[in-house]
Amino acid sequence: GSNWEFIKTEVTGEKKNVAVITLNRPKALNALCNGLMKELSTALKAYGKDANISAIVLTGSEKAFAAGADIKEMAPNTYSQCIQGNFLNDWTEVARTQKPIIAAVNGYALGGGCELAMMCDIIYAGDKAKFGQPEIALGTIPGAGGTQRLTRVVGKSKAMEMCLTGNMINAQEAEKVGLVSKVIPADQLLGEAVKLGEKIGTHSNLIVQLCKEAVNTAYETTLQEGLKFERRTFHATFSTADRKEGMQAFVEKRPAKFTSE
Ligand code: CAA
Repeated sequence: GSNWEFIKTEVTGEKKNVAVITLNRPKALNALCNGLMKELSTALKAYGKDANISAIVLTGSEKAFAAGADIKEMAPNTYSQCIQGNFLNDWTEVARTQKPIIAAVNGYALGGGCELAMMCDIIYAGDKAKFGQPEIALGTIPGAGGTQRLTRVVGKSKAMEMCLTGNMINAQEAEKVGLVSKVIPADQLLGEAVKLGEKIGTHSNLIVQLCKEAVNTAYETTLQEGLKFERRTFHATFSTADRKEGMQAFVEKRPAKFTSE
């Protein structure tokens, strides 16, 4: 993909099975304008359908993962335009992607940038990363999950503090509260995120997809419903060739060869 205006894409990893999407609007600190979000959706859809891709890494620059929705672009929006255009609806593609997405966050992840990272499945943070929901200072509120996903991840008190003050938290605090799973020196972040994608890519793409769905179900429903979904999905893996192969390989003390069948 070389025709992008606001992103860069690359396929990497030893097996060429990890896609890296880099937000590339440096002058605006990767502010998430409509054009950028359209390109991101298009790239995600394409990688989602590509059987050779096992995982996707989403990253930005050293200074900013993304500084939020594009304030200058949305400033003139009216209420009726927001409603009738279903403003921000096309951001959902990220959360709809069936393959694992790893956010590799260096620098600012603010507002929509923090929300975008939270739509991903795993967040790795560079040691200088900063997370925040500063919408309140603009006279608005988070609109792409900042009051919802953040609260489920870090709990009410911390989410409320972040959303009501607009204050940022640093990478170390983000790890402490469970927003990110690891803090990594900034210059090693992308490499480690790709390694994580490669590790996931050693497993069955098919079973990884089911597992991702099951973890996400924990977010989206009650414990009883989630446990039921998990159990039935676990049962369903017994209908796959990859489940047979995985267990057979264990018994035969050899690496499994998965086919996603
Ligand atoms: N939208 C549009 N442009 C942005 C932007 C944004 N969210 N964030 C930064 N920029 C632009 C700046 O306007 C500036 O452009 P010019 O050089 O043309 O003036 C350029 O990027 C560099 O930014 P700064 O000069 O401000 O850089 P800094 O290092 O001094 O500050 C910052 C960095 C603290 C991240 C600061 O840019 C900032 O506070 N940005 C806005 C953060 C924000 O409020 N995000 C929430 C947006 S609302 C939202 O996201 C809604 C939602 O829920 C979806």
